[in-house]
Amino acid sequence: MNTPIYLIGFMGSGKTTLARRLARKLNREFVDLDHLMEKETGMRIPEYFNKYGESKFRELEKETLTNSLKNPNSIIATGGGTPCFFDNMDQMLKNGLVIYLNLSAKALHARLSQTNIRERPALQGLSGNDLLKFIEKKLEERRAYYERAHHHINPLENPIDSIVMLSQRKNTV
Ligand code: S3P
Repeated sequence: MNTPIYLIGFMGSGKTTLARRLARKLNREFVDLDHLMEKETGMRIPEYFNKYGESKFRELEKETLTNSLKNPNSIIATGGGTPCFFDNMDQMLKNGLVIYLNLSAKALHARLSQTNIRERPALQGLSGNDLLKFIEKKLEERRAYYERAHHHINPLENPIDSIVMLSQRKNTV
């Protein structure tokens, strides 16, 4: 019997891309919590944040995560903040295999500098050194949550092979 696989990590660590590729490889269902929330609300995440604020967003995120626990066959890309609110991390650890995509603040900065910041409400208005300082501070705050994951992997070093191996190990326990 499969258990859901949760990919956690900071914005820009590659959770969505990797979850999609893994789902294809393992013949499982790809789920992205942000996409699910956007579908449910009919709003883009930044729009929802601006209209209802972060605490409403976190409540919706929790509800969406709780629903995802019902599908053992899924590979789930969480949002960067998902593990850090309520008992979300406990739930994921109890019900699935949790994998932390661990990248340094510098590497995250390089990746996030090349993406559309407007899609990420937490990063609005930040660029250059201010963006790096923000990432360093936020990553420090979140690290203790992320590090509770069952496994830590470097998403730049054969992440698919590593996760396939880990998921097979878990299934034989
Ligand atoms: C957030 C990360 C985003 C999204 C929201 C908040 C965060 O997801 O859930 O903008 O607090 O780190 P990604 O990590 O997929 O960008």
